[in-house]
Amino acid sequence: MRLTNSEAGYGLVHWAIHWATVGLVFWLFYLGWTMTDLPLSPQKFQDYALHKSLGLTVLMLAGLRIVWRRLNEVPPLPDGMKRHETILAKATHHGIYVLLVLIPLTGWLYSGATASPANYFGLWEVPDLIGANETAAKVLKVIHEWAGNLLAVFIILHVAGALKHHFIDRDTVLTRMLRPVKD
Ligand code: HEM
Repeated sequence: MRLTNSEAGYGLVHWAIHWATVGLVFWLFYLGWTMTDLPLSPQKFQDYALHKSLGLTVLMLAGLRIVWRRLNEVPPLPDGMKRHETILAKATHHGIYVLLVLIPLTGWLYSGATASPANYFGLWEVPDLIGANETAAKVLKVIHEWAGNLLAVFIILHVAGALKHHFIDRDTVLTRMLRPVKD
């Protein structure tokens, strides 16, 4: 099994980061959309704590992925894609990368602004990036929420693009992400 990417596909590291991020982001959306409506209860605190730990994991994975992408070649988009399709694909990918950093970062800042620091899976208290601040908390909460909505839109575009490549263009763009390249 190959760790790095090649021209033919993604290596184990890029593939694992991609699918771990997918799973975590879905879990984070589920928690984000349900925990806020819960009545004050131990369950609510547990869900907030889990949301923060999973979100910080996504931030670390996004950092790792950006570095790995710079160190590695990336399999090229197929020949024959129209100019506007290439622009849309690249804009969606870049948008997702930016949001996978912006969303956890605003969540982390928000935790500081509301003086409720994250505790990474109960292992260590994560330092706050800013002190308690009511105005900052309001702004950060809106950014966190709307950046989340925008990420949901980008994910829908991303999945629609992958399905189009598979079922209409009949190229390898989807299948090369389903399993890591062997050699
Ligand atoms: C990719 C990572 C993340 C995603 C996709 C995400 C997504 C969301 C979503 C969808 C909501 C619900 C927003 C709403 O409609 O009210 C939410 C709320 C929240 N998130 Fe995140 N989040 C992420 C990372 C983080 C991190 C790292 C933290 C803190 C360390 C965090 C802290 C919070 C808090 C405290 C709320 C509740 C805000 C409130 O009380 O209304 N999030 N998040």
